[in-house]
Amino acid sequence: MTARPLPLGVGVLASGRGSNLQAILDEIACGRLDAAVRVVVSDIPDAFALERARLAGVPAVFVDPRDAGGKETFERRVADVLCGHGVALVVLAGYMRICGPVLLAAFPGRIFNIHPSLLPAFPGLHVQRRALEDGARFSGCTVHFVDAGVDTGPIVAQAVVPVLDADTEETLAARILRQEHRVYPHAIRLFAEGRLRLEGRRVLVDAPTPGADDIAIVQPPLLA
Ligand code: GRF
Repeated sequence: MTARPLPLGVGVLASGRGSNLQAILDEIACGRLDAAVRVVVSDIPDAFALERARLAGVPAVFVDPRDAGGKETFERRVADVLCGHGVALVVLAGYMRICGPVLLAAFPGRIFNIHPSLLPAFPGLHVQRRALEDGARFSGCTVHFVDAGVDTGPIVAQAVVPVLDADTEETLAARILRQEHRVYPHAIRLFAEGRLRLEGRRVLVDAPTPGADDIAIVQPPLLA
């Protein structure tokens, strides 16, 4: 009998409420994602993400960036925690720091981030407000590989939502967040199943795409 391969070991880095972490944990718990969150690491001691980890029985580790005496040492500690827990894929979920060379070198091609815009549009902060101010008709979220830039790595998956006339920053953010919770586990599943292949800046996905030529939504909607 051949042994079943171990599920993908995931390490989550989070600085805040951790709703994306929760979505990933939920997908695993109901058997739709064959992965295991081995550890959650935060740079904020009372981040709710750490509490969510504890509630799910996942090791929750605070690494104090002020103790560390510099970014390099901080990242070395974070990388040691991740490696010590058998992490194969690092998932940034509301992690409010830029990954530096130490983390990138410890997990080459093995760090995902999720960002609440349709990259490459609106990298950085306050992106829902900027999408509204610039009159974008669509926004959404992007899962991408992390490189040395800010929200610049190769794009793995995106979900698109309309921007409505009545939207505020909050309503748009909430609409996007609902899609984040679907797209992040999906992207992790593609990685776990070995379906992703990097070709330059493109991520090629070995997955069926039925009817892909016909997918389009129009905002404002086409009139009947
Ligand atoms: C999400 O909007 C994510 O796209 C961004 O930070 C937010 C984190 O939310 N990077 P949560 O902590 O997962 O609830």
